[in-house]
Amino acid sequence: MSPQRPRPRLVVTHQLPEPVEARVTRDYEALLNTAEVAFSPQQWLERCRDRDGMICSPLADVLSADVIAKLPNSLRIIATNSVGYNHIDIAAAHARGIVVTNTPGVLTDATADLTWLLLLGAARRASEGEAIMRARSWTSKLLGTHVSGKALGIVGMGRIGAAVARRAAGFNMQVHYLSRSAKALPDLPDAQCHTSEDSFWPKCEFLSIHLPLNAQTRGFLDARRIAQLPRGAIVVNTARGDIVDDDALIAALSDGQVGAAGLDVFTNEPNFRPEYAALSNTFLLPHLGSATLETRRAMGYKVLENLDAFFAGQEPPDRIP
Ligand code: GLV
Repeated sequence: MSPQRPRPRLVVTHQLPEPVEARVTRDYEALLNTAEVAFSPQQWLERCRDRDGMICSPLADVLSADVIAKLPNSLRIIATNSVGYNHIDIAAAHARGIVVTNTPGVLTDATADLTWLLLLGAARRASEGEAIMRARSWTSKLLGTHVSGKALGIVGMGRIGAAVARRAAGFNMQVHYLSRSAKALPDLPDAQCHTSEDSFWPKCEFLSIHLPLNAQTRGFLDARRIAQLPRGAIVVNTARGDIVDDDALIAALSDGQVGAAGLDVFTNEPNFRPEYAALSNTFLLPHLGSATLETRRAMGYKVLENLDAFFAGQEPPDRIP
């Protein structure tokens, strides 16, 4: 970006990795939130005053239609530091002529890796084992569920779902996925597409959720679908908490219909349902899907790629239609 041009004014709602923040302050007049202060909605909107663009995060911000209506006219782009954008009312932003961008691609592997951590942790009772060790105790009686050779069901066979499915080959697992039609998956020649839910759910000894959250997928994993899983199935969610009906999953974890769950995402984060923490058959993480240094840097640079293009008058590569 040319140093002669006035630098666009950004508001950044959350902390970014150091080299990304250095780039932001070099190329933009940026209002940072380096201490990750929680602002009231009013303080937050005041920080947006006179700003040309915003970097936001699903972990910190909810940009509802109400909030978007109150953004200043100067603000023309919202770049979310995430692949998911359910925290932004896209229609409301578009109605105000605000461009929204995200960061697809760069967090696929980190999220797929973490999915396997959850799957294995839930299946092999890692939480219980860890708690016993930290209590300076010992047991040889923590029998878990065998993973290798089992069937893995995927809902949401997009980039991350496919990356999770590719890793299943190392565990000699049969992959099944639910989709309206078979996808071209040349590196997953044995993955079985199910166009019917009736044939899909009973196959899922393990189930991993990779759907985007929207009006169609909210509460998707409900009591009716859970009842069709094989008894003792293991459920993993690294997508969004609201895709799961919490009452139904908690009941199924309590009565054994679901054997264990590995969860990285929750409804109403960070105030997730206390029952998940009280159950021994859960393996829980605080939304760490993309949380590696390398990935968070790559995401930050992708945010900047979009902002740089936009303020140079070009099409941002990851504009949400
Ligand atoms: C993380 O949850 C993301 O959407 O990037």
